Amino acid sequence: MAVKILMVCLGNICRSPLAEGILASKLPKNKFIVDSAGTGSWHIGHSPDKRSIAVAQKNKLDISKQKGRQFKTSDFDNFDYIYVMDSSNYNDVIELAKTPEHIAKVNMILNEIFPNENVDVPDPYYGANNGFDLVYKMLDEACESIALKLLNKHA
Ligand code: 4NP
Repeated sequence: MAVKILMVCLGNICRSPLAEGILASKLPKNKFIVDSAGTGSWHIGHSPDKRSIAVAQKNKLDISKQKGRQFKTSDFDNFDYIYVMDSSNYNDVIELAKTPEHIAKVNMILNEIFPNENVDVPDPYYGANNGFDLVYKMLDEACESIALKLLNKHA
């Protein structure tokens, strides 16, 4: 059965769609399923932010066909690994957890490269365009580390 990984941010239009696209590009599709969701409900059904689509395209990834959805409690059972972008996403997701197993699936994504430091992926939504380049770089480094770990463990 495929290993399932969920990327979570607030809106599911800026950071987590990038994280989904980047990680999916580093893993074989027959063994891994990568998805993303937002803790908020504003962007359900929306395409990713055009600035995220553009920075992905610059890096040869097409994330334009993704659609926003909201994180839900059943995601804890449907996914094996849940990566959140910042500490506020972490708190919002953990609030919906029902069991210690649910809680154990959730990690802050940058802890993959800065263990135990709980560094946030900054929300680029209200910032300048180069915020998206910075976010892309952080996520690419974290996803490279996640992919190596997952391939080592599951492939
Ligand atoms: P994201 O950024 O969490 O990286 O998708 C945001 C996008 C939109 C909003 C908040 C964060 N918003 O409030 O609409």
